[in-house]
Amino acid sequence: VVDFDESVPDYVALGRLEGRAAMVIGAGRGIGRHAAHALHAAGAQIAVVDRDAALAQALATEVEGIAITADVTREAGVRHALDAAGAALGQLNAVVDIVGGIPAFGSVLELSEADWATAYELNFRHATIVTRIAGKLLADSGGGSIVFIGSISGLGGAPGRAPYGSFKAALHSLVRTAGFELAPLNVRVNAVAPGLTATPRVVARLPDSAEIGKPGGFPQARDIGAAAYFLCTDLSRMITGHVLVVDAAQTMRHPVGVGGGVVTISSR
Ligand SMILES: NC(=O)c1ccc[n+]([C@@H]2O[C@H](COP(=O)([O-])OP(=O)(O)OC[C@H]3O[C@@H](n4cnc5c(N)ncnc54)[C@H](O)[C@@H]3O)[C@@H](O)[C@H]2O)c1
Repeated sequence: VVDFDESVPDYVALGRLEGRAAMVIGAGRGIGRHAAHALHAAGAQIAVVDRDAALAQALATEVEGIAITADVTREAGVRHALDAAGAALGQLNAVVDIVGGIPAFGSVLELSEADWATAYELNFRHATIVTRIAGKLLADSGGGSIVFIGSISGLGGAPGRAPYGSFKAALHSLVRTAGFELAPLNVRVNAVAPGLTATPRVVARLPDSAEIGKPGGFPQARDIGAAAYFLCTDLSRMITGHVLVVDAAQTMRHPVGVGGGVVTISSR
């Protein structure tokens, strides 16, 4: 019964990040941009990292942060980003790495070795580097939070995009293991697993009837950014090694039902 405490905390204050610094990797657009805005709105200083220098600079201006150009699929890029953020901000308390994507679609009979290698680079390699290097840095400074963006494609099968789903599944497993291993060092490691989300890159592929921003429809980048922000705050201090699905119930759809074989739930 050591540390038992029934007092009521200031819950709103637990969501604030004044005096803290956060790095958002792949922040230039889409989900990363919204994660950076959420963290900034809560009071954190922001290091915006993107391999696209113009995108990084534009967002850094929006969130009054610093821009760092780096490719995080290489260890040198991650080290450069962490060194630059440390030098400019003096500390780092959270790292949100949103890098990922689908470089090739196709059947498992068609996808080439190069397609698999590219998907590994884009979706998993950087996460192993960030976990190792940022994890050590946060542990050495007393603790912190690391958040990756997984995918519902990594929860089950991912027809037509097997490499993407496979490496997102690997990312989820890494998060669970790292969450467990780094817990004694006060470093939390989590992932947000979005469903198909109406980001600028994806919205053109959605049907005209798509209900965006409604339960039963499609999340927006802001909804994934909000979850990433939550995982960086003390509101989530007991959440680690977790994959938080944010999919507006897309994965709850039953394969046998009305409406073209898919039962959808409307908020209305
Ligand atoms: N949009 C969706 O429907 C959806 C669904 C599930 C999961 N996700 C995941 O969410 C994440 C973000 O998706 P998005 O659509 O916002 O991405 P996006 O492609 O729109 O943006 C990615 C950003 O990361 C930067 N970037 C890419 N590679 C980089 C590298 N090696 N180093 C540094 N910066 C790099 C890009 O320049 C870009 O600014 C990805 O991990 C994606 O797999 C997206």
